[in-house]
Amino acid sequence: MRLRLYPIDCSVDINKVQKGHVRAVSIINTVASIHPSGANLLMPEPESTPYARLGGEEAVRKLVNRFYDLMDSETLWQTPLRDIHPKDLSASREKLFLFLSGWLGGPDLYVQRFGHPRLRARHGSFPVDDQARDQWMACMLRAMHDVEIEPELYAHLQGAFQRTADFMRNR
Ligand code: HEM
Repeated sequence: MRLRLYPIDCSVDINKVQKGHVRAVSIINTVASIHPSGANLLMPEPESTPYARLGGEEAVRKLVNRFYDLMDSETLWQTPLRDIHPKDLSASREKLFLFLSGWLGGPDLYVQRFGHPRLRARHGSFPVDDQARDQWMACMLRAMHDVEIEPELYAHLQGAFQRTADFMRNR
């Protein structure tokens, strides 16, 4: 059985893991720490996923729209964050929605449409340094606050977004 791991750009042969391949286990641990479903990476109950707790498709769309509305209007995050995004953010909105749907434990819409996300590789053509990472996080935290995510889930997602955003840095 092959286990698909994202946003890490690789997959792991679960049989080798069972045979004790330490490197594969360490990759799994890294992914478990990045993925919002954490240690439940393999088998989260559908009703206990962050996707369900958030409120499903409509709530994920609302969060993504708030995130890009803020990015588009808040001058604090114009440089570098807004500047490295396309002028028209509609494709960005759609892609982040599709991605978060699966990442939060809901339907894997991004994978169905585009295949493996290879998220780090896809960010490779954009300069993502500490400042861009911090602005992205500040924008996402404000968006989560504005759509009124309950505190426990907010804290959980803050950690998961932070670890993923750290991983996107390429400068
Ligand atoms: C660390 C700071 C980050 C910066 C500066 C950044 C910036 C960007 C830019 C410039 C793009 C390309 C334009 C676009 O298609 O929207 C992009 C795409 C994308 N980003 Fe990020 N991003 C960051 C973190 C994240 C994180 C943490 C996630 C997920 C939790 C994420 C998910 C995505 C997705 C799904 C796409 C679309 C990929 C594609 O199919 O082309 N990004 N990001």
